[in-house]
Amino acid sequence: MFNNISKIAISTGGGDAPGLNAVIRSVTLAARNRGWDVVGIRDGFNGLMFPDEYPHGGLVDLSREAVRGISHLGGTIIGSTNKGNPTAYPTEQEDGSFVEVDRSEELIGRFHDAGIDALITVGGDGSLTIGNHLFQNGLRVIGVPKTIDNDLDKTTATFGFDTAVDFATECIDRLFVTATSHGRIIVVEVMGRYAGWIALHSGMAAGAHGILIPEIPYDLEPIAATIRQREERGAKFSIVVVAEGAVPIDGELSTKGQTIGQAVQLGGIGTKVAQRLEALTGKESRCVVLGHLLRGGPPTSLDRLLGLRFGAAAVRALEIGHNGVMVALDPPNVTYVPLVGATQRMKTVPLDGDTMTTARDLGINFGDQMP
Ligand code: F6P
Repeated sequence: MFNNISKIAISTGGGDAPGLNAVIRSVTLAARNRGWDVVGIRDGFNGLMFPDEYPHGGLVDLSREAVRGISHLGGTIIGSTNKGNPTAYPTEQEDGSFVEVDRSEELIGRFHDAGIDALITVGGDGSLTIGNHLFQNGLRVIGVPKTIDNDLDKTTATFGFDTAVDFATECIDRLFVTATSHGRIIVVEVMGRYAGWIALHSGMAAGAHGILIPEIPYDLEPIAATIRQREERGAKFSIVVVAEGAVPIDGELSTKGQTIGQAVQLGGIGTKVAQRLEALTGKESRCVVLGHLLRGGPPTSLDRLLGLRFGAAAVRALEIGHNGVMVALDPPNVTYVPLVGATQRMKTVPLDGDTMTTARDLGINFGDQMP
């Protein structure tokens, strides 16, 4: 027994990201090789919050067999959710309204009842904030950062991003072909929430002509001018990549509504951009929304490796007595940063960074300058 640990739990919360199963395998093997028991909590924290609604009290025994051959699989074998934050649980009142109730004490009690000595919580800003709250209320917690959006500040990289960019690039490559055949504009909407990383990286890799990101409020006149200029040079087609969180200079974020207890759902900007560009240029336009396709599918080797490194580092953190920290990539090493600071600031695209400068050198239009 290291540091009074004989049994740990792992939970995966928020939107799934390729590489989660690699983390689960790595945590399981690294912990079992230290003689610890490992369980997975079903669907974020729901397994422990609502044990009667699940087989085996909402816990999955993570044996060596259970994690055999899963690193290359997308998704998470223990399930995930982005609903029902246990520290601010939406609870219906008699008058039908909802208030948020902190149920962390009840949840921590369930960890103790199940004989779980520590939690490894794998997630984005939501799950890491919950993890920090549980840590501050007495639970031993290590965080592992996850998001395809690449918007977590205290780590150089999160697993899932590379896979999302890779797949988006492949899709844009394919759209290039059909856009060329038909001489059309194709607008590709990608995920990323309030950060433009996926749009910028996939758009650049695939050779897009316009990229719209949340960091730069956009005007479509410069994009239309770029398309016309291409036309004059004989290029009858154009590709514009739009991040779901991109906002027009004189407009609003495009959303699809909000369910109680969940973050607002973004989406719809691609169609608006395509329609407006068609009106501005007179060219036939189409919109393709890649959406959740970016989250499924097998992780790239880079994301698998990062997941494996993060998982084992989380177990080592517990072994050496860390608590309330998040594992983070600080190349070439994996280090530990306080959980409390991990979600305070969102990592957005630096507009004076080398990648943006390169994009501008290539003539990619961001909707803020005439070509
Ligand atoms: O944060 C990851 C992410 O995929 C975002 O890019 C996107 O806005 C959101 O999750 C969508 O989540 P949901 O699963 O609720 O549709």
